[in-house]
Amino acid sequence: MNRNPHVAVVGATGAVGVEMIKTLEKREFPVGKLTLLASARSVGKKLKFRGEEIAIKELTEGSFAGVDIALFSAGGNLSKQFAPLAAQSGAVVVDNSSAFRMDDAVPLVIPEINAADVKWHKGIIANPNCTTAITLMALYPLHQAFNVKRIFASSYQAVSGTGAKAIEELERQVNEIVAGKPVTKEVYPHQIAFNVIPHVDSFLSSGYTKEEMKMENEGRKIMHHPAFRASVTCVRVPVYRAHSVAVTAEFEKPVTVEAARTVLSKAPGLDVVDSPEKKEYPLPLYAAEKYNCQVGRIRRDCAMENGLCFWVSGDQLLKGAALNAVQIAEELLKI
Ligand SMILES: NC(=O)c1ccc[n+]([C@@H]2O[C@H](COP(=O)([O-])OP(=O)(O)OC[C@H]3O[C@@H](n4cnc5c(N)ncnc54)[C@H](OP(=O)(O)O)[C@@H]3O)[C@@H](O)[C@H]2O)c1
Repeated sequence: MNRNPHVAVVGATGAVGVEMIKTLEKREFPVGKLTLLASARSVGKKLKFRGEEIAIKELTEGSFAGVDIALFSAGGNLSKQFAPLAAQSGAVVVDNSSAFRMDDAVPLVIPEINAADVKWHKGIIANPNCTTAITLMALYPLHQAFNVKRIFASSYQAVSGTGAKAIEELERQVNEIVAGKPVTKEVYPHQIAFNVIPHVDSFLSSGYTKEEMKMENEGRKIMHHPAFRASVTCVRVPVYRAHSVAVTAEFEKPVTVEAARTVLSKAPGLDVVDSPEKKEYPLPLYAAEKYNCQVGRIRRDCAMENGLCFWVSGDQLLKGAALNAVQIAEELLKI
């Protein structure tokens, strides 16, 4: 791998793409050249990187000549179409969509957990689902210490997880309600302002949604734990940025709050924010724009043996997407 790689960001104008550009700059990733790709609608727009205005180009089959690393965040269909082409032309793709996550030939990586899996890539590496990534940042260190059997969890997912249009929808609906106007809906099936919607992604015949099953399926692959089980309810909430997850985990080994806190306080990429007596616990408002996820409300579950409850918040545009992708790119430079 070129030590000053030519990096392409596919979906550069989107909620995740913009954060990828900022993260490359903030982490001083040694970009040799940056190519920004989006739809024909964005041609003519410019985005800033290291003080320089870079023109957006249209994504085409020829976009990847000379590209070393391609960070994809333009949706699953475009990833399926263009990621193999980018890989064929010599780039390593880090893909944010769900298109390749469960493909046995594609590593699915959270660098704090399974960085070594980057080494066996065949041209495409997948970034995990955002809610799964944020949950595993706290769950995996606990698993290493106490062997997790299963979790029960509910998510509280920010609108920016749906993309730039959903951020506009929440803002527009709040303004409409405050102005006494009828509420308009474009992105979600129901009003999201002053509401919560227990429906993220499409429903499966089991009654769970696809999003809910990502925790078990992706969790097994990332933690190398094929017996891991997860029962999850995913909920969209009127929060702009940062997902939260209420987790109850059952472990093989006995677990205490003190032992869990010791493990979590040493975990990479995670801050323990857990002083209920001072009203201190993770809040999405304060987790937004932070690289580290935050865990708190740590307590023994009162309804099961070896059970622990916790609450984790994290910026899903960062740890659930852009930051994790750039961290994978950093791992590529070490190979
Ligand atoms: N948002 C999150 O928190 C999050 C977290 C993890 C993973 N992801 C995944 O990341 C991907 C992008 O999500 P997002 O939230 O950033 O969505 P978004 O805000 O809607 O952005 C979509 C991006 O894709 C581009 N695009 C759309 N159609 C295109 C086309 N035909 N050709 C080239 N580019 C096209 C858009 O460009 P234009 O501006 O030109 O339309 C825009 O840059 C999705 O796969 C999503 O599942 C998102």
